[in-house]
Amino acid sequence: MSPASLDEISITDPLTIGIIGGGQLGKMIALAAKRMALKVCVLDPSNCCPCSSVSDELIVADFKDAAAIRKLARKSDVVTYEIEQANTSALIDLESENAKLVNPPPRTLQIIQDKYKQKLFLKKFGLRVPSFSLIESPQQFLQICKKYGFPAILKARYDSYDGRGNYTIKSERDILSAYSHFGLDKKPMFEKYVNFSKEISIMVARNLNGQITSFPVAENLHQDHILHMSIVPARISDKVALRAKKMAEKTLNALKGAGIFGIEMFVTDADDVVINEIAPRPHNSGHYSIEACSVSQFEQHIRAILNLPLTEPRLLSPAVIMLNLLGPESFEGPYAIRGLRKALSTPGLSLHIYGKKVSKPRRKLGHFTIIGSSIKDVLAKADNAKRALKIEHDKS
Ligand SMILES: Nc1ncnc2c1ncn2[C@@H]1O[C@H](COP(=O)(O)OP(=O)(O)O)[C@@H](O)[C@H]1O
Ligand SMILES: [Mg+2]
Repeated sequence: MSPASLDEISITDPLTIGIIGGGQLGKMIALAAKRMALKVCVLDPSNCCPCSSVSDELIVADFKDAAAIRKLARKSDVVTYEIEQANTSALIDLESENAKLVNPPPRTLQIIQDKYKQKLFLKKFGLRVPSFSLIESPQQFLQICKKYGFPAILKARYDSYDGRGNYTIKSERDILSAYSHFGLDKKPMFEKYVNFSKEISIMVARNLNGQITSFPVAENLHQDHILHMSIVPARISDKVALRAKKMAEKTLNALKGAGIFGIEMFVTDADDVVINEIAPRPHNSGHYSIEACSVSQFEQHIRAILNLPLTEPRLLSPAVIMLNLLGPESFEGPYAIRGLRKALSTPGLSLHIYGKKVSKPRRKLGHFTIIGSSIKDVLAKADNAKRALKIEHDKS
């Protein structure tokens, strides 16, 4: 049966979802798929990736390995990805043989993979983004910084995540060190620093029929450019929330294809909303939807790529918090997560442990979600649970 007209799930011959990338996002997509008795085939370079424990089949190869992607496609009815670093030319080849196979489509991924192209695209469709520009030389960069003022941000155009590709320039003196940090070959871009009052995000999905639905706005708190916690509903006015929702849906109207997208935004003191970036996949700030919404971002993604109806996600709790559990700075290696008894006695808490074999500083190893009666309530509970949980070097 073609996903375009799917109306049944065969138990004897279930549809297979192919996922490029077997990290925590892949694992949570797979868990949502397994709930509906679908099959899951994953491509990942590690045979013990988080997805390995929940997938029917694992192809161990580099994400960009064209032959392995082809093998994945042969085994799958639809192909999707949990990472932006997929091989778009291999995916374009597949798409030319079966247009419905890969979603979101590789050409959408291609726009998003390049932060510069992504911003040009958004600007072209009238969506507000921070001022940005390509950089050709330190001299030209200095001119741009002088024009827009400090601080400025230098961003790697490709392959950056969790803030690893960003460099903040506070004054003229930082320009050369920023340059040596990147090297011109990395093709960095300039971005004006947005003095935001809040960072927010919205998960939006579209199915193959073009139906679009969006999730409640999440408020995101970062530490060292990496997501620390998401609070829902975001502490913003209804007017700003509506503005953000309209912008997220307009973004999806501009981008082609089916799937779930995470749209990261800044809110300024003047209540302007500016788009920071788009993720063509489930997003860390949407994890709260597993416990706190009528449909999770992962199930919505599966519905979208199989062209099933999307339901409007409803928040089931007055307040929810999602807090990431990151590898401590103090060691790299095997680990144990301790303090479960105390943490799990927190009312409304759900714990997710991804199963990565090794901890590294700031590596995302798990998260917890707490639903509760008010934001004050969930913040207090999160603080206690966070203090109870210890990620420790397991030398046994
Ligand atoms: N133009 C900007 N102004 C202010 N802060 C920014 C800007 N761009 C990024 N940041 C900060 O850095 C974080 C990571 O940057 P982002 O571009 O989203 O990179 P990544 O792809 O690593 O998530 C953002 O969530 C935000 O906190
Ligand atoms: Mg980001």
